[in-house]
Amino acid sequence: MREINASIPFDKRLWKQDIAGSKAHVAMLGKQGIVSAEDAATIAAGLDRVAEDYAANGVSEDLTLEDIHMQTEAKLSQLIGPVAGRLHTARSRNDQVATDFRLWVRDAIDETLAALGALRGALLTRAEEHADSVMPGFTHLQSAQPVTLGHHLMAYHEMIVRDASRFVAARARMNQCPLGSAALAGTGFPVDRHMTAQALGFDEPTRNSLDAVSDRDFAIDYLQAATNCSLHLSRLAEEFVLWASQPFGFVALSDQWSTGSSIMPQKRNPDAAELVRGHAGRIMGCMTSLMVTMKGLPLAYSKDMQDDKPPVFEAHDLLALSIAAMTGMVESATFRTERMRAVAEAGFSTATDLADWLVRVGGIPFREAHHITGRAVKLAEEKGVMLHQLGLDELTGIDGRIDERIYDVLSVDASVASRVSFGGTAPANVRAAIATARGLRA
Ligand code: ARG
Repeated sequence: MREINASIPFDKRLWKQDIAGSKAHVAMLGKQGIVSAEDAATIAAGLDRVAEDYAANGVSEDLTLEDIHMQTEAKLSQLIGPVAGRLHTARSRNDQVATDFRLWVRDAIDETLAALGALRGALLTRAEEHADSVMPGFTHLQSAQPVTLGHHLMAYHEMIVRDASRFVAARARMNQCPLGSAALAGTGFPVDRHMTAQALGFDEPTRNSLDAVSDRDFAIDYLQAATNCSLHLSRLAEEFVLWASQPFGFVALSDQWSTGSSIMPQKRNPDAAELVRGHAGRIMGCMTSLMVTMKGLPLAYSKDMQDDKPPVFEAHDLLALSIAAMTGMVESATFRTERMRAVAEAGFSTATDLADWLVRVGGIPFREAHHITGRAVKLAEEKGVMLHQLGLDELTGIDGRIDERIYDVLSVDASVASRVSFGGTAPANVRAAIATARGLRA
């Protein structure tokens, strides 16, 4: 029973929040005259000493004390004697843990947002550096049209901005204080719930005691935001894995963010990127775990809910590592821009530009232009040259309406420069997007 019942091995991570919650509670008890001012002061000072002890020695995993709440009260009573027993007036572990956990998730969100800010900064810096660097853009992982590396990196920047906004929304939604809901029905003591809510930085007290002690949707919100974020990181990680492979050769990972092989000295493996990709699966598993735990629980608190913490802690740790690793990789990678350009040129990636030119300048219907372009691509392929290396006579041989102005659009630089539609890949657009993003950050 002791082993299955105890949560101290994992909920000891809540100790700072548990102390903060108890201090807010006892200050309120004192002010409301529910305990004497003197006892409240003794308890508050005692809680500070418990915190010092935890900070210095860690929290012991004594299973007989079950969880962090009982552990803290036991420590407190060792330090200040029986007056410690007054702390638990007008509360229950149910509103206590609901409060502690919200405080913890809130801190985790703040930490995550700071880390995402650093990743955004890294993406912006590298995107700016490569606003003009041409690379092949893919659909179906086939060379499609040239894009700029800056534009590609800014695509991830957009994803990270949305991820951050999901965390911000989750934080705003969860910022209500359960303290004072007691076990499930509220309390008959004259508590001041607004006072404790304010002391702990919540916007307001929760409005229904049953809901307050028994929902964990705030933790699910957090895990869902974490999952979305990890999916984006995983996609970026996958690009690094592909790009670092010899057939691609688009990126050289730094020594700090790659590993050697124990038997093949030439190897530089993208382990960190692979682990970021792998962690996304585990984070999603954490989200699923808590959602399944909550499904079908009647009101109010049930002990199943004690299992809310391990998946949240695990997801947080994995996500923090993933963000840090991707930030490090983005910051320190060497992009092989000459290789990217060569691949973009080799893939007939300006075929669309040829077709568009025929439409725009030659007045030819797009379908017909598409066929003409197909013949040009076939000829270039047969001759083993790139589209812009075909002679004018060869091109006019395919269609007489082509003239020398065609060469203005056949280079990959001309192609990317022409994509000036809002959100398009033109270097000027990329620079404007970076400027806008920097404004958002400020
Ligand atoms: N350790 C418990 C948890 O994490 C604290 C709440 C216990 N409440 C109870 N009624 N047994 O959920």
